[in-house]
Amino acid sequence: MLRKIALLLAVTAIASGNPAAGQEWHWKSPMPKVEAKRPTPDSRIIGGVESVPHAWPHQAALFIDGVSICGGTLISTEWILTAAHCMDQAVTVDVVLGAHNINEAEPDQVVITSTQFVVHGNWDYNNLANDVALLKLSTPAELNENIVVAPLPPATYVVAEGTNVTAIGWGRTSDSTGGISYVLREVVVPVTSTETCNDAFSIVNDNQICTDGTGGKGTCFGDAGSPLNYDGYIIGVTSFNAAPECEAGYPDVFAKASKEAAGKPKSWKSLRPLIEPKGLRMPTSLAAAPGCNEAVPHSFPHQVALFIDDLYFCTGALISTESVLAPAHCIDGASYINVIMGAHNLAQAEPDQVVMTSINFFVHEEWSSFTLSNDIGLIRLPAPVAVNANIAPAQLPTTDPPVGTIVIGTMWGGSGTNGALHQANVSTISQADCNAIFGIVTDNQMCTESPACCGNSPGLANFNGELLGLGSFASSAGCEDGYPEGYTKITSYLDWIEANTPITP
Ligand SMILES: *[C@@H]1O[C@H](CO)[C@@H](O)[C@H](O)[C@H]1NC(C)=O
Ligand SMILES: *[C@@H]1O[C@H](CO)[C@@H](O)[C@H](O)[C@H]1NC(C)=O
Repeated sequence: MLRKIALLLAVTAIASGNPAAGQEWHWKSPMPKVEAKRPTPDSRIIGGVESVPHAWPHQAALFIDGVSICGGTLISTEWILTAAHCMDQAVTVDVVLGAHNINEAEPDQVVITSTQFVVHGNWDYNNLANDVALLKLSTPAELNENIVVAPLPPATYVVAEGTNVTAIGWGRTSDSTGGISYVLREVVVPVTSTETCNDAFSIVNDNQICTDGTGGKGTCFGDAGSPLNYDGYIIGVTSFNAAPECEAGYPDVFAKASKEAAGKPKSWKSLRPLIEPKGLRMPTSLAAAPGCNEAVPHSFPHQVALFIDDLYFCTGALISTESVLAPAHCIDGASYINVIMGAHNLAQAEPDQVVMTSINFFVHEEWSSFTLSNDIGLIRLPAPVAVNANIAPAQLPTTDPPVGTIVIGTMWGGSGTNGALHQANVSTISQADCNAIFGIVTDNQMCTESPACCGNSPGLANFNGELLGLGSFASSAGCEDGYPEGYTKITSYLDWIEANTPITP
């Protein structure tokens, strides 16, 4: 009993403000280290000074799952730019804005939680390419003189070699310091060439910027995700430096930041809610899960791809010539949606593809982003689409098959699938078994066993020529762990669909 109370208090403390305020430093600071090829240069001072408080009002501190710290940049009232390696495996991030000393609960600090992230679709942990991610704040930040949105430069913006730029962060101030810095610090460093940088690392390309670490000046643990600043712009995101030391004088590497890099369609992973499983695991393990195979092109002609605000990818289903069913979590709050119909391979401009942009869509009146209940919405196409062999409305079901039925999950986006639609046979599991894992599952949802990482979001569940389920959620533990996936059950919404669809499906 005592332990339970202690735990609750700890959780309450975290939920009520800056999770770092007043705490003994215990945050891990993820920052990948790359073995440098050349010998250590002769230098040993980490440069930099404490920043004037609030001189960098776009800087955010990210406390990840109560364990790790990274930096980030406020790039709009709702979005934080950070490093992908900070977000790998993350579930909940407390974003502290307006801070100078993160060990204090300063009155200017605002803490906003985020559980929605997009990691760059080409983020590669092996060579640390495209180390950028975006976090969506659960409520928009209120701007003031200490909380300011930073502009990103256009992709064509070039910062010449030798230019002095400013790295900032709460990272360690020396290799011998145990913890990171409580106060925000900054260091001015010159940009160095990709070639010079590759003398040390070999993996750097034109999507990255390097700074000269001579004199031991640069970034260290805890700085990851923080911005590289120049001329009022955010030009980079702190990514990695040399193993094992920060002070050794090797260059530091930043992912290049630009407007385009933060909003390119198709290169972003899908938006999908992730739920922390309660630790129970399905008896069906990954090894037993059936294979993931490329679908016969156009064998699911109702399946459509949705690119939302040129930022997210989701899957929807055509249900009439003018209406597309889409998960509410995908379209809630969106500005515009590009609907791609008749596609097999999304990485190609196939002649069969028909693209329409819709600004007319809505979500179920009782959609809850908390419980993910009623995760359904409708998109109206700007004009009826011509039905052909590759584009056809889905057959809607009248009943659900029994638990244990093998259904076909169809999805885009799994690693190694190269943009082609894939399918996997998966067994449906009971609502009770699924709820034992996720704790939010109701009769209006259906679950299947894990489709073995076949796609990066649950797509559609099909059975006997009918559309049974619209992909809703998956486990935050990742697809490798073999947890089931959740779908919005179509039979629960037949009346809603009929009432809201201009032409009866
Ligand atoms: C960069 O800053 C250093 C140190 O203050 C200075 O010596 C150097 O001239 C500056 N370089 C440029 C291009 O301004
Ligand atoms: C998937 O299930 C269908 C129908 O039950 C079956 O015909 C097909 O062979 C299965 N495919 C795989 C790859 O197991």
